[in-house]
Amino acid sequence: MEVEKIDKTPARMDFLQSLSGVVLAFFIMGHILFEASILISNEMMYRVTVMFEGYYFFGETYPGIISFLASAISVIFIFHAALALRKFPASYQQYKTIKEHTKRMKHEDSSLWMIQVVTGFMMFFIASVHLYIMITQPSNIGPYASSYRVVEELMGPLYFMLLLSVVSHAFIGLYRVVLKWGFMEGKNTELSRRRFKFLMQLMIAVYIIIGLASLAKYTYIGLTHDFSDGVQYKSETIMIGQHK
Ligand code: HEM
Repeated sequence: MEVEKIDKTPARMDFLQSLSGVVLAFFIMGHILFEASILISNEMMYRVTVMFEGYYFFGETYPGIISFLASAISVIFIFHAALALRKFPASYQQYKTIKEHTKRMKHEDSSLWMIQVVTGFMMFFIASVHLYIMITQPSNIGPYASSYRVVEELMGPLYFMLLLSVVSHAFIGLYRVVLKWGFMEGKNTELSRRRFKFLMQLMIAVYIIIGLASLAKYTYIGLTHDFSDGVQYKSETIMIGQHK
């Protein structure tokens, strides 16, 4: 008797989509915290910047490391988006069916899924702009250079949209991964599900507040700092050939 072979490709793709999503979610959790160093001081944000440029390792800064990192993140981002495309409603008819289903059944998980589709679609465009700038201008990062970009190069509104979409997308995504791969199957499934949902909402709120506070600080510096000397920051403690 011939045994019919099961095609494992869809399951493998699902797994890779979850895995790349988890990597990106952890990246963004770190990213928003590192970038919030501006809330402590300009000097602190400068130190975090030179740390990523390898200063504490090589004694010199290599902005190429940032380009490399941003390229690696872009590859994972594109991979994740390509896998997610399979799940987008393919026609208006499909979209209407899902929408009606969500409304009629008050089906929360379908609503969460719609948020993932919308925020994911937004990020195709806005995250790409940001990543491209990070790859091509890695030496223009720092308390003044970043503030200049936010205000004078009008990146503020883009960051605002990116912040709302990426934070919701990341934590809803993590919640769905936990649900999907069965981490909520404790003794009381309903209770653990409610707890995870609360945690998801809490994390979204906390990260949006931190992100908005940082964005406000970059905007404040961008509006008040005198850029006639350029965008480089002169550190009081770190002396390297090239200042930010
Ligand atoms: C290795 C890749 C990345 C680097 C080096 C990087 C670096 C930075 C830096 C330095 C800023 C401060 C503003 C500026 O200098 O323009 C910033 C802001 C921001 N980035 Fe990234 N980024 C990267 C990837 C991403 C990705 C993949 C996302 C989301 C999909 C993202 C979302 C954001 C958001 C939302 C802000 C504004 C944050 C706020 O409101 O406080 N970044 N990024």
